[in-house]
Amino acid sequence: MPNPFTLGVASGEPLPDGVILWTRLTGLSRPADVRWQVAEDDRFAKVIRQGVARAQPAWAHSVHVKVEGLRAATDYFYRFRSGGELSPAGRTRTAPGPTSTQPVRFAAANCQRFEHGWYTAYRHLADERPDVVFHLGDYIYEYARPAHGVRRVDPADETTTLAGYRARYASYRSDPDLRAAHAAAPWVPVWDDHEVMDNYHGRGDGSDRFLRRRAAAYQAYYEHMPLRVRPRDGGLQMYRRRTYGVIADFMALDVRQFRGPATMLGAAQEAWLVARLAATPVRWRVLVQPLFFTRRFVPGPAPNLRKESWDGQPEQRARLLAAVSQNLVVLSGDVHNAWAGDIVTGAGVTVGAEFVGSAISSNPPVTDGPGVLAANPHLRYFDAHRGYLSGTASATDFRVAFRGVDHVDRKGAPVRTLAEFVTEGRGIRRVDV
Ligand SMILES: [Fe+2]
Repeated sequence: MPNPFTLGVASGEPLPDGVILWTRLTGLSRPADVRWQVAEDDRFAKVIRQGVARAQPAWAHSVHVKVEGLRAATDYFYRFRSGGELSPAGRTRTAPGPTSTQPVRFAAANCQRFEHGWYTAYRHLADERPDVVFHLGDYIYEYARPAHGVRRVDPADETTTLAGYRARYASYRSDPDLRAAHAAAPWVPVWDDHEVMDNYHGRGDGSDRFLRRRAAAYQAYYEHMPLRVRPRDGGLQMYRRRTYGVIADFMALDVRQFRGPATMLGAAQEAWLVARLAATPVRWRVLVQPLFFTRRFVPGPAPNLRKESWDGQPEQRARLLAAVSQNLVVLSGDVHNAWAGDIVTGAGVTVGAEFVGSAISSNPPVTDGPGVLAANPHLRYFDAHRGYLSGTASATDFRVAFRGVDHVDRKGAPVRTLAEFVTEGRGIRRVDV
């Protein structure tokens, strides 16, 4: 049997006492037993947990191991074995305990269209070994293979079926830099639209055909991510918080599954979010979600506001802002360029900061960055490199570096910090790098 661990390993959803370990075996048709190990060291001399999981064809031979009883804020190493073959080893890290004041080091990535370029940025992200990695959506794109691309994605057709989505994830995971980023740190991913279909909202047109497609896409997403919960009845519970001591409350949002004409989040998710924003004792309230949050007026011919972003739901946005007075941070993506700015309420009060990650590889649209900055005084930074966010939240401040590469159409680009910003809880200030 050839090595079945070609899609790599991953971990995610860190809690103070546990993580989820993931792998998916390839080349099998029957159920298979998979042994797993967790060690304190990367040579697996001190194995502290182990067990056997069952890889089932119905779940594409994916394995999601819920490891419990670990120490808080601690690095661990893990690996799998099946049929005499060993997986690569991964490194993970638990969250700190509920009273911890330890800083948290995170990275955030998004928008990685395979045909548009190499995942060099992920290699650099992996080298940073952050405490946690957030993915802000567009992990795959469902589109058919284009006539010309930097590289060839599989399958050739637009993905609409379970088999199609599975093959698309496998194609993306053929990239060693993406596998390295998963093996380097635990992930907390959220999805945007392209994990299913361009610009879909909620239940789409409500047809059985669309709901079957959405259910297939959600299942394939689960099968390739280290998530704590399984899809059920065609849905998947994605909104959740991951709390790092008293320092950062990361609220991972689902801006697609419950979206409707007058709501980005749906009533239940909004109520959950508003309640936590208002009551959390944690210093930083961090929204982990795909879409541009603050107002962005684009000069020129109408429409000047992009209705697909939060500018399409200003009332719901205002209700979220009414729940905070400061210390709000929004991490977002989607627009394939980097932005940073202040979050200002309708009454003119600055309550936080937004950092918009560019894209790992997806091509940017034509954007008049200076023109948009001039028309939006709260927006302070624009940059057009491919890259990711690298940040640290601490008791004193919240820092974000925009990390960028000069090219993705060929391998090997070095990374550099394009700009770095800090906030003490209201607006942002650029710091020298
Ligand atoms: Fe995208």
